[in-house]
Amino acid sequence: MPREKGQKYQCIECGFIASTWSGKCPSCGSWGSLDGVNDEKRTGGGWTDIISAPVAVDGVKAPERLPSGLNELDRVLGGGWVESSVVLIAGEPGIGKSTLLLQACGRMAVAGNRVLYISGEESLSQVALRARRLGAVSANLMIAAGTVVDDLLSDEAAQTDLVVLDSVQAFSAKDLPGYPGTPSQVRAVALRAVDLAKGGNVPVVLVGHINKEGLIAGPKLLEHMVDAVLVFSGENISAYRMLRAVKNRFGATDEVGIFEMKEKGLFPVADPSRLYWSGIDQAIPGVAMTVTLEGSRPFVAEVQALTSSTPYPYPRRTGRGFENGRLDLMLAVLERRCGLEMASMDVYVNVAGGLSIKGPHADLALCLSVASAVRDKPLLQDCCCIGEIGLAGEVRPVPRTSLRVREAKRLGFRHVLLSGKEEEEFPAGMEVHAVSTLAEALKVMGI
Ligand code: TYD
Ligand code: MG
Repeated sequence: MPREKGQKYQCIECGFIASTWSGKCPSCGSWGSLDGVNDEKRTGGGWTDIISAPVAVDGVKAPERLPSGLNELDRVLGGGWVESSVVLIAGEPGIGKSTLLLQACGRMAVAGNRVLYISGEESLSQVALRARRLGAVSANLMIAAGTVVDDLLSDEAAQTDLVVLDSVQAFSAKDLPGYPGTPSQVRAVALRAVDLAKGGNVPVVLVGHINKEGLIAGPKLLEHMVDAVLVFSGENISAYRMLRAVKNRFGATDEVGIFEMKEKGLFPVADPSRLYWSGIDQAIPGVAMTVTLEGSRPFVAEVQALTSSTPYPYPRRTGRGFENGRLDLMLAVLERRCGLEMASMDVYVNVAGGLSIKGPHADLALCLSVASAVRDKPLLQDCCCIGEIGLAGEVRPVPRTSLRVREAKRLGFRHVLLSGKEEEEFPAGMEVHAVSTLAEALKVMGI
C-alpha cells in the first residue's frame, strides 16, 4: 500500500490508530483490519450550551425526551430520544432496523413532530412503498435518498425533531476519498451526525450493519462517538426480535425491548414471559421451571434435562442455554453433595425456546432438572425453582427474588422453591418452600 506523508491507519475492530500499515492490528491482533484514515478536522457543530464558567447543576435544564411512538423502543432508550444525542442502532442485515425506525418515524410524525428519514440504501419510491406498508404516512414525515451525507444534511435537517441516517455504511462524506463503509468514511459520516445533533439540538439516529463475525466496518469504532448503542437481534428462524442497549449515556443498559416481525412491521410482544414457556403439563421427569430476568423483565424459563447411561468411555455432557462450564460444575455438586451417580451418565440439558440464561440464578432449576431425570421422577407440580448453588451444595439467594415470584404467581404457579436466606417479602397465595441445601431441595421436591 503506498504511503502518503502523515497517513494514519485505523483498526476497524478496535479503533486503534497506527502510523504504519501492517497486516495485523498491533493492538487487538485482528488481521486485515487496518484502513487508512485522514486527519479530518471537525467542522462546525459543538454544543449550543457550552460555556466556560462553571454553573450550579440545579440551574441547568435537563435535556428533553421525545417519545419514539414505540413503547418498547422508549423502554430501551430510557424514555425516548434525548435532544442533541446520537444513537446507533446496530444489527445484522435484514433483522428489521429500517422497519423499526420507519415505524417510529411514522408514529412520531403522526404525533405532530417533523421527522427526516434519510436512506442511503433504498430509493425514495422504495422507502415510500415501505412507509405505506407500515402505515407510516404523514405530511410531517420527510424522506430523502442519496449517498453524500453533506448534501443530505442540509440546514433543513437541523429544523426537524429527529433525523435518521440509514445506514452509516451507505453514506460518504464530500471530498473524502474512499468508498462508503470504510472506517474513515464511517467516522466522517458519524462526525457529521454528531455535529448536526449538537449544533441543531436534534436527536440523530444512525443505523449500522454488523455481521456474524462481529462488528464490521465501523460500528465498534462508532461506539465511542455516539451517546447510545442499541443492538437489534434475533434468530432468522424466529419472528421475535430483541432490542438491547449496550451503551446508554441517558438510561440503563439492562432494559430489553421485545418485538414480533409481522406482515405490517414490528409489534410489541404483549406477554414476553410466555415466549419461552408453553405452559405444558409439568409432570414430566427432567423438567424444572425457573424465572430469569432480562433487565427488569422477568421471564419464566423451562429447563429440560435428559439422562441415559453412556455407551462411551467418557460420558457426554451437552448444555444449551447455560454458560460454559456451568453444567459440569452443577453435575459435580450433584454427585458429591447429593450422592447422585453421574459418572456413567450422558447428560443433555436445554433451556426451552432457545433462551440463554446468564448468571447463576437458574442453578437450582438446572440441578433439579438433572436430578429429576436421573431418578425418573417429576418435580412438585406448579413450582418455580429460584436459587444459586454453591460448591458446598448450599442454596443461595439471588437478586430480585420477589419480582420473580410475583411473575410466577401471575402465570399461575402456586409453589416456589428458594433459599432460606432470602429476606424479601413474597406475595400472598404462593406456597414458599425455603431450603438451605440442594439435598434438602431434592427432598422437598419429592425426588
Ligand atoms: P429491514 O427493516 O429491511 O432490515 P434491515 O434494515 O435491518 O436490513 O427488514 C428486513 C426483513 O423484514 C425483510 O426480510 C422482510 C421483513 N419484513 C417483514 O416481515 N414485515 C414488514 O412489514 C417489513 C417492512 C419487513
Ligand atoms: Mg435497512
